[in-house]
This record gives sequence, structure tokens and C-alpha cells, in this order.
Amino acid sequence: MTFRALPQELIRAKRDGQALSPEAIGELVGGIADGSLSDAQVGALAMAIFLNGMNAAETVALTEAVRDSGEVLAWRGLGEGIDLPGPVLDKHSTGGVGDLVSLVLGPWIAACGGYVPMVSGRGLGHTGGTLDKLEAIPGYDIAPTRERLRTLVREAGVAIVGQTAELAPADRRLYAIRDVTATVESLPLIVSSILGKKLACGLDALVMDVKSGSGAFMPTHEASFELARTIAEVASRAGTPTTALLTDMSQPLAPCAGNAVEVREAIALLTCEKTGEKSGDKSGGRLLEVTRTLAAELLLAGRLAENRDAALALLDERLASGAAAERFARMVAGLGGPADLLERPERHLPRAPVVRPVHAARSGRVTRMDTRAVGLAVVTLGGGRRAPSDAIDHAVGLTGIAALGDAVDGERPLAWVHAASEADAERAASQLREAIEVNDVAPGDVVLPTLIQDVIRREAP
Ligand code: URA
Repeated sequence: MTFRALPQELIRAKRDGQALSPEAIGELVGGIADGSLSDAQVGALAMAIFLNGMNAAETVALTEAVRDSGEVLAWRGLGEGIDLPGPVLDKHSTGGVGDLVSLVLGPWIAACGGYVPMVSGRGLGHTGGTLDKLEAIPGYDIAPTRERLRTLVREAGVAIVGQTAELAPADRRLYAIRDVTATVESLPLIVSSILGKKLACGLDALVMDVKSGSGAFMPTHEASFELARTIAEVASRAGTPTTALLTDMSQPLAPCAGNAVEVREAIALLTCEKTGEKSGDKSGGRLLEVTRTLAAELLLAGRLAENRDAALALLDERLASGAAAERFARMVAGLGGPADLLERPERHLPRAPVVRPVHAARSGRVTRMDTRAVGLAVVTLGGGRRAPSDAIDHAVGLTGIAALGDAVDGERPLAWVHAASEADAERAASQLREAIEVNDVAPGDVVLPTLIQDVIRREAP
């Protein structure tokens, strides 16, 4: 990278609280990507941004520079028969527990006429990762060639895969340095990191699911709201219309958490076992509501529906008809997984050797949950990583997790634990009893959090 001013002068300006120009930010990010900025300079820059923040224009410039630091996928102008005939849409979440929205939403949007090239990540801390869940499916290849990815997105409408080295390389280096320089928790750095990667996928619209509550990435409701607002604002100013939803993570979104168990849950939802289309029992719950709401926002942003009612009607029809399930099956088979996964999940998904209920120490109702601790119980079981190099056990996890307000007793457990050994099960059981508060209260006395707390829509300028 050729700098018009010495990089240390640009770092000095940020250190002293000045705003950087888009050109200066472009040069600094170029230097991060090509290595002409040293680790020390990147760390100093990150700390200067952490301490002094960035204004909106700087954050937009930083996001665009991270996006453009590597390959930006293009889906049009490629030629007849290759161009996608519909909008390119995607969703991203700040991460949670039992949050398997991506597994359901991607194929569902594809069944409604959208195209979803979804680049997903691995579990981080207490949160699960979509890639780890998909790797519970034998043969599923999270790193197809670019050509295979293109073909699959065109033919199945959806491909959920991992990040490549070519996509937003500046973020890969910057994130690794932030991780060891105490500079992760900075709004402009978080926003440009999340969006830089997502916008490099060549999207026409994005929907963000920002979590709030005891299992959320941000520590307070106010911080979650500020992240949601900033993401919607910055992405839209960078040219991608974005809607951010603020959703509740004060309990796991699905009644399960883990890898194979969440894939099973996704299949149950897509094949309508959970929505009750087959059984007459409407029990898809919070997971279905959040997924359906996010999906409706994407259909509106992608102009695949005229209004919210039409979007919801289209979604319901494509779920009930089996079209969304069929897209999921096509994606799995197209990426090397079993062709009959939906028909015979039990044949293919791993099962833990020990499965047993965890009962609360007393009878009563669930009044509060430390959702982060529930996620950490899954990590303890081996379903998540303590260090990036750890292997994970896809079979372990939790199912039948009681929800806030549910009655629990000697019959109804707090959850079922799926473990590799009795000792692991016992350890996770203690963690769960600590994480889930049970009190002797009347049903109406448990205040249930609002599931969808805010919707922030921003058009591109
Ligand atoms: N996720 C990201 O991709 N980047 C951040 O900075 C934080 C969460």
C-alpha cells in the first residue's frame, strides 16, 4: 500500500481524536490487508479507534474499505443464464443460544424467490455457530469452490458456507489483533467487522438480528439497540438497504442447543412437524416467530412481496407446501451431505451415548435464565470450543429446555442433556441448575420478555 502520509501520522491523528478522511481509512485498511502495516501499528490504530470512536462517515468508510479489501462477489453482469434472476438476500445474527434461524431462513427465502449466499461463522464463546451445526451433517462441505458456490446459489437458491481467505481479508487480520489487544468491544470496529464480511457477498438487502438479554453479545439492552441502529445506518449508507431487528435472548431461542440437535430442530420446523401443519398443533414457538419476522423483512426489502401481510402469506405457503424443506435438502445434497437427510435424519445425525433429564432442585416455575451460562453448559459438554483449535463433539447438547414461565418438577425436567459420558452429563446438569432460576410463583407472575423488541429499517441513500 502506498501511503500519502506516514501511517504513524494517521494513527497519531486518530489517537488525538481527529476524524480520518475516507482516503486515509482506505490506505490504513489496505495496509492491514497487504501487511504493510505492522502488527504494532494495527494494534495502536485499533486502540485509538477504541478510545476515541469514529463518527458515522468514518464508520461507513471503514466498513467499505473492509468490504473492498478482498473479493466482492458479483451476481449480475455475468451473462445470460449465469446472472441471478432475483434479489440476493442475507441475514446475520450477533449470536445466541439455540439460535438456528439461519438453517431455516436461508432455504425459506430461497423457496420464495430470493438467492442466499450465506457466509457463516463458527461458535464464539457461549454462542453456537451455523458452520459447526452444518458440520454435524456427514459429508457437508463448508468450503466449496467459488464455481460450486455460484452454481448452488443459482440452482438451489441457497448455500450456507464458511468464509474464504479472499473475502474481507483485512477483517481477518484486524479481528485477530483486536482479540489480543483488548479492542474487541468498540462499536465502529464491531460494525465494520460484521458488515465488511457480509457486504462482500454482493447483497441487495440484509436483515440483522441483534440480540438483547442475558445471552446476547452486547452487555446491555441500550448497547444492543445502539448496535442495531448503527448497523442499519452504516450498511444502508454503504449501499445495502438493511433492516435490524432487536430480539430477545434472555432465554434460548429454540428449546435445544448444540449442533446435531439444532439441525434436527431445523428439519422438524422445515418439515412442519413443529408448526403443526401436519398435526394441528401450532408449537413452532419463538424460533418460528423470529425466523418468520426476519424472513418477511427480507422479502419486503428484496421486493418479493408488496407488503408485510403478503410476505407472511407467501412464507406460510412455501413452508406448508414443503418448498422450503426441499431447498434445504437440495443445499445439503449439493454440498456433499446425504440426499435423504430430511426423510431419515436419525440415520445420519450423530447421537450422544448418554441422554438424561436434568431436574430442578425444587418444583416451581422458571423465573429467570442466565442464557450465557446455558450456552457454556453446551461448551462444557464439548459442543463448543474453549480455544479456536479445539475439536467439537457434534452429538452433545441440550433438548427440551424449559422456557421462562414453564412449570418444572420431579416429572418435567429443566432440560435433557446429551453427553459423551455420565461425568460430563453431571457437570452440565449442575451448570444448568445454577443457570435456570426456579421459584414458587403463580403463572401470571413471570414477566415474559417481548420477543421482537424493535425493528429499524434503513433504505440505501
Ligand atoms: N463478530 C464479528 O464478526 N466481528 C466483531 O467484531 C464482533 C462480532
